[in-house]
Amino acid sequence: MSNRSACWTQLLVLRRVLMNWRRRYGYQFVVYAAILGMASIYVVSMEAPPESEIASQESFFLAAKATKVAMPKDWTHGKYQLSESALPSWMKAYVAFHQRHVQTPASASRLVWHCPENRGCGGIGDRLSGIVQVLMMSMVTKRVFLVDWHGSGLSINKVLRPRFIAWDSIPLPSDMVKLYANDDRNNTYLRDPRTLPQKVNIQLQANLYLYDAVLKREPAYLAYWNRYGGVNISLLSPFKIAFWTLFQWTDLVVRHAQGLRNASGLAEPAQRYIGVHVRTGSGVSWTDPPRHAGLPALRQFYDCARRLQHALQQKCINEGDSTSSLPEIYLASDRVDAKFQMKAWDSENDNTIKYVTNLEPFHVDKSRNAMNTSAAELDVWGELKVLLDATCLVTSRSQFSTLASSLRMDQTPHRCAVMFDQCDIEQIEQAVAVVSSC
Ligand SMILES: *[C@@H]1O[C@H](CO)[C@@H](O)[C@H](O)[C@H]1NC(C)=O
Ligand SMILES: *[C@@H]1O[C@H](CO)[C@@H](O)[C@H](O)[C@H]1NC(C)=O
Ligand SMILES: *[C@@H]1O[C@H](CO)[C@@H](O)[C@H](O)[C@H]1NC(C)=O
Ligand SMILES: *[C@@H]1O[C@H](CO)[C@@H](O)[C@H](O)[C@H]1NC(C)=O
Repeated sequence: MSNRSACWTQLLVLRRVLMNWRRRYGYQFVVYAAILGMASIYVVSMEAPPESEIASQESFFLAAKATKVAMPKDWTHGKYQLSESALPSWMKAYVAFHQRHVQTPASASRLVWHCPENRGCGGIGDRLSGIVQVLMMSMVTKRVFLVDWHGSGLSINKVLRPRFIAWDSIPLPSDMVKLYANDDRNNTYLRDPRTLPQKVNIQLQANLYLYDAVLKREPAYLAYWNRYGGVNISLLSPFKIAFWTLFQWTDLVVRHAQGLRNASGLAEPAQRYIGVHVRTGSGVSWTDPPRHAGLPALRQFYDCARRLQHALQQKCINEGDSTSSLPEIYLASDRVDAKFQMKAWDSENDNTIKYVTNLEPFHVDKSRNAMNTSAAELDVWGELKVLLDATCLVTSRSQFSTLASSLRMDQTPHRCAVMFDQCDIEQIEQAVAVVSSC
């Protein structure tokens, strides 16, 4: 290793110590990072996809029959299938590269996404964003991508399984250069992975994804994509493709999500329901900046959900289903009293709001007092899936909300999401227009 990279490594270690210190003691820093993270991911994913994107997503997932590659026998969940042969060529090339080299440690150096313990890595949204970022970096630098996620509760392979990339292969290299890039959108390694120390195995902490639009401007990524005919980010988000190339739910999460739906009293089989995620940031057991302004904002969430509900019902009626009922609402929140309040409003109207009463608000990185950490974490993953499966979502400014809305192509592309405070008639119409028929 060169003097320069040794020096860098030390600086990064120092930086990490400082950041952990700030995280522990400095509220301002937490606010800053959270705002940056929320704002960024929100920008990436909140727009309703255009019709052309929907059509293309559909062919992407329905092309499964054309597959020539042997699949693991349980490689699908839900009715849409993701096929390896339908991946865009830039991703297919990396999948093939990974398969060629993952079993032979000497043949290509490793880039390992790393979370040392259940602190300082951010929430599920932050972590999954960082994982996708490091996958992209591996792709550009021809390295074998691996995930090393230490949790105090559930380990990652309890909730997510590899889909086309064996990111869980072991053993991990014993000789790794340790680098740190958390909370740093300007990080040189992230922006230009070609600056990573060459020909060594690297362990990298990263908890954010540079936007699709940013990656598309960075020469290193652009050069890679151009080798495979380019990438059109408005057609199909590289983030989504990368995520679902890496992951599929384990049966544990699938079952647990169903259990939460059952416990909430959502009608089964739930054909259509609206997911609402109210992250208030206030009144929770972990340090979290307030995100929305109290009761008035809560009312906005509620009104938005109701507008969506009625618009979805009307759409079905317009399509000839005159008996169509109002879709129910599944409510997730970090405040139990927010659920009670919305339920109280709803009981004066249609009484369609459902939630799990005894669900403990929990954050994988920050909560410390859970009765049972594994159980609490499983609830978080389960609720993420329940939101992902909703026909339409009302979202907060949080990475969790954002993941739920930006990753929705796995089950079906014909779904919508609206931000709670950008929920006027026009936005509702646009959102409902992309939803597949009743
Ligand atoms: C990132 O770099 C840009 C310009 O190079 C600068 O304006 C911005 O403040 C930097 N952001 C952070 C978080 O350091
Ligand atoms: C990318 O896709 C969008 C949406 O289909 C389309 O309007 C646009 O022309 C495409 N851009 C390029 C460069 O192909
Ligand atoms: C959910 O309820 C259905 C019946 O409505 C039942 O068949 C299923 O086993 C339940 N699943 C879980 C995980 O509780
Ligand atoms: C914690 O929750 C998990 C998952 O629900 C369960 O398997 C385990 O038995 C629980 N442990 C305790 C000590 O209750």
